[in-house]
Amino acid sequence: MIWSAVASEARHRFGLFLGHSKPKRRRRFALPAHSINKMNLKDKSAIVTGATKGIGRAIAAALVGEGISVCISARNQGEIDAAVQELNRSDHGKAIGFVCDVRDYDQVKALIDHAAKELGGVDILINNAGIGMFETVAETSPEDFREVLETNLFGVFYCCHEAIPQMKRSGGGYIINISSLAGVNAHPRMAAYNASKFGLNGFSEALMQEVYVADQTHPTS
Ligand SMILES: NC(=O)c1ccc[n+]([C@@H]2O[C@H](COP(=O)([O-])OP(=O)(O)OC[C@H]3O[C@@H](n4cnc5c(N)ncnc54)[C@H](OP(=O)(O)O)[C@@H]3O)[C@@H](O)[C@H]2O)c1
Repeated sequence: MIWSAVASEARHRFGLFLGHSKPKRRRRFALPAHSINKMNLKDKSAIVTGATKGIGRAIAAALVGEGISVCISARNQGEIDAAVQELNRSDHGKAIGFVCDVRDYDQVKALIDHAAKELGGVDILINNAGIGMFETVAETSPEDFREVLETNLFGVFYCCHEAIPQMKRSGGGYIINISSLAGVNAHPRMAAYNASKFGLNGFSEALMQEVYVADQTHPTS
């Protein structure tokens, strides 16, 4: 994957706190820093998609370092095994792994079920798995365009669709979707990636309006 075109971008993280009421202000779609600091991470469990390398791997390491039990996923079993072994060198949380192509709904269902069973629930979902493609629209094949959208957008929908009922059953949770500045700035040769990340931002904001609760007395706050 070629990330050089977006290498200087900051990461946009969309934190979504599960609940039932709507936010007071329409565009308050990122968790404010003070809320993140108040997150009670003790005994929590998390899924990080695309966590065998790059940003996802770093997020998984940070979560394990906080004492969280983490299920990492990606498509390559050998790379998952190596990452799990490395993550479990921490004295704090623990890591398990599960092969899952986020483009495949049945595999996503199996991932969420596996994590919930092995870790006792899913409190935090980090939708990180993503791919870039940097070609003109004329150069981009329909298959490539579909692969970008299916990974960066449909994959996030599948994971949220399966994880939200689990989170609601256990009283709440956090969903963080890894977007990009390419979700707010369009560039030539980035139409597929732009489409996926602009779409992801809209999806994340709509989802936040469905599930966000600001009540800091909520069990998971
Ligand atoms: N790097 C940047 O400069 C940058 C900037 C802004 C935003 N981002 C976003 O940050 C996220 C991570 O980027 P990164 O640079 O860390 O990526 P990366 O180093 O290429 O790692 C991507 C991870 O996702 C996995 N993955 C890819 N396709 C997948 C699929 N269909 N199903 C499941 N897992 C899949 C990969 O493993 P397998 O290939 O083995 O499945 C790998 O573990 C992406 O959403 C990206 O859009 C990155």
